[in-house]
Amino acid sequence: MAILAEFNQTLKKYGVSNARVVEFTLSDQEMPEMEGLSCNFSCWVSPSNLTCGIKCEFEASGTTGAKPAAIATPTAKKAEKAKLLAAAAAAPTKSAAPAAKKAKKKSDVPINIYRPNKPFVGKCISNEELVGPGGIGTCRHLIFDISAGDLKYVEGQSIGIIADGTDDKGKPHKIRLYSIASAHRGDYLDDKTVSLCVRQLEYPDPDTGKTVYGVCSSFLCNLKPGDDVKITGPVGKEMLLPDDPNANIIMLGTGTGIAPFRSFLWHLFKENEDANANPFWLPKLLGWVKPSDKPKFNGKTWLIFGVATTPNILYNKDLEDLQRRYPDNFRLTKAISREQKNPEGGRMYIQHRVAEHAEELWQMIQQENTHTYICGLKGMEKGIDEALSAVASKDGVNWSDYQREMKKAHRWHVETY
Ligand SMILES: Cc1cc2nc3c(=O)[nH]c(=O)nc-3n(C[C@H](O)[C@H](O)[C@H](O)COP(=O)(O)OP(=O)(O)OC[C@H]3O[C@@H](n4cnc5c(N)ncnc54)[C@H](O)[C@@H]3O)c2cc1C
Ligand SMILES: NC(=O)c1ccc[n+]([C@@H]2O[C@H](COP(=O)([O-])OP(=O)(O)OC[C@H]3O[C@@H](n4cnc5c(N)ncnc54)[C@H](OP(=O)(O)O)[C@@H]3O)[C@@H](O)[C@H]2O)c1
Repeated sequence: MAILAEFNQTLKKYGVSNARVVEFTLSDQEMPEMEGLSCNFSCWVSPSNLTCGIKCEFEASGTTGAKPAAIATPTAKKAEKAKLLAAAAAAPTKSAAPAAKKAKKKSDVPINIYRPNKPFVGKCISNEELVGPGGIGTCRHLIFDISAGDLKYVEGQSIGIIADGTDDKGKPHKIRLYSIASAHRGDYLDDKTVSLCVRQLEYPDPDTGKTVYGVCSSFLCNLKPGDDVKITGPVGKEMLLPDDPNANIIMLGTGTGIAPFRSFLWHLFKENEDANANPFWLPKLLGWVKPSDKPKFNGKTWLIFGVATTPNILYNKDLEDLQRRYPDNFRLTKAISREQKNPEGGRMYIQHRVAEHAEELWQMIQQENTHTYICGLKGMEKGIDEALSAVASKDGVNWSDYQREMKKAHRWHVETY
């Protein structure tokens, strides 16, 4: 592409000779949403802070300017593909500047920026299936464009969704809450999106046996890129992350309970990595992503994740990738209920994994910088308490008392249903 040659020339002008620009093409088939748009490129170099990039402006129906809300941001998969291709470029990197330590007070957390009587209308950017072939049901990763409004959120919060249409009384549907699955900068690190992880509720009608589909989860799972979505919130202060970059984070989750944990892990690991690692990463080249000044996370995280089958392990590839890249900081333990057996021969649930690792978890929990989070099905709580109670009692500690103190110290966080 001519623009890449021009870019290379510009870099040379500033004495950057070891940069290699890799050519990549995104076909109409890979990015059908780009079809019919023309693109004006320009390249820029800032020698003062060693950054460079390619900017593009899309032109549709004779209008040039900001990228159109729902169409210009590639889907997560496509961005990942482009990122892999762009990653082949060797280039000078700039390390992140150390950041001032800023405490996140509960009073700083955004709450109810948009209320049900005046929701924000966002746009669906992408809707991707998370359940692999042979898995049970459907669960989608949804990304919404929120750039046209003031919606802000932090890791661990939820948003409300109002499904289109009316209920059987002709009234607008009530709000359903969904845990936010993206870190606060959004999946593209541009502060313009929010993501959800939504399972479509389906169950047999107790009287007729006919399959009933949940109203709001079906509305969300069937959204198409470009569709409007009414959003309220954000809400929730129970699942907030500590600011300490050396904290230990234990995450116990079932199914879609992974949503806040994805948000945590992306914030703690991927955000810095994506924003700082490769100046040739496409969203950065396009000027959508700014470098992160967040201090590197040095604590330990441990996710114990319960799902029904292997294809139901939501975000499995990303989680395994994190485990590979951060073996000292991220640990992943799976409980695959319908494939693995617990010691009694029944389904392997998350509480059985907690019992199996109880000694280690108890040692970790007793450290003052350890925070434990539980999200997903309420049914797991009793077993988790039993396992920790058994191990704590060996040290003469009453688990209920200890847990109460942890809650007071904001070190024990629960969002179960
Ligand atoms: C804080 C919070 C966070 C949440 N986060 C997420 C999330 O990240 N992802 C996610 O997918 N969901 C999440 N939920 C759940 C979500 O809010 C909805 O409850 C869910 O999507 C179902 O809503 P629906 O409109 O599809 O179902 P509805 O149409 O409201 O149907 C639900 C109703 O169906 C009936 N029903 C359900 N199952 C059965 C059954 N087996 N037999 C008979 N009747 C039944 C019950 O009456 C139930 O109230 C969260 C909920 C809360 C409170
Ligand atoms: N996550 C949320 O925030 C949330 C909130 C409210 C409602 N919901 C709704 O709840 C439904 C659940 O879907 P999901 O995908 O999150 O979960 P799921 O796929 O139904 O379950 C996840 C895992 O938890 C296991 N499990 C079931 N009962 C358990 C128990 N008592 N203790 C420990 N583990 C248990 C399941 O095992 P088996 O199935 O093999 O027994 C499965 O392995 C969805 O319809 C969703 O809308 C979710």
